[in-house]
Amino acid sequence: MNYLLPVMALCLLIPAFAVSLEQGQVDELVEKAFEGQKHSYAPYSHYHVGAALLTKSGKIYTGCNVENASYGGTNCAERTAVFKAVSEGDKEFEAIAVVTKDGGSPCGICRQILNEFNPKILVIALDETGRVHHQMTLDQLLPHAFGPANLE
Ligand code: THU
Repeated sequence: MNYLLPVMALCLLIPAFAVSLEQGQVDELVEKAFEGQKHSYAPYSHYHVGAALLTKSGKIYTGCNVENASYGGTNCAERTAVFKAVSEGDKEFEAIAVVTKDGGSPCGICRQILNEFNPKILVIALDETGRVHHQMTLDQLLPHAFGPANLE
């Protein structure tokens, strides 16, 4: 009975370790997300989003939201980063940092797009002061996701 508590604590810690990055990598990713945000084209919403996507090979792709007068043609920052990476042949993603004025979380479509490539990707959402609003795996943000396995 007295082994139950340490075992439970370990179960809680293992997922956290599994997706943790070194602090240096987190800092670089956050810096790149801010860089991405500088290019945000958001004349309609004025909600400027920057993203930085880390691949397993260690490369970082930045992204920003690109709005359009049609509204529907708008592309989110996360998807910009993903599409940049995939179009260059990089599909193995480890983490993504997203910066917005209020630390907002990736939208549903972006969660779905990220899920396609790695349901366990680490998602770090921060605000413009650098405060992390949340840091969790995608499957925590998008539980019971529909994905490639459904179509096998
Ligand atoms: N936006 C993103 O770039 N990422 C998200 O996950 C949420 C929304 C953008 C789209 C649009 O340009 C603006 O934020 C307001 O919705």
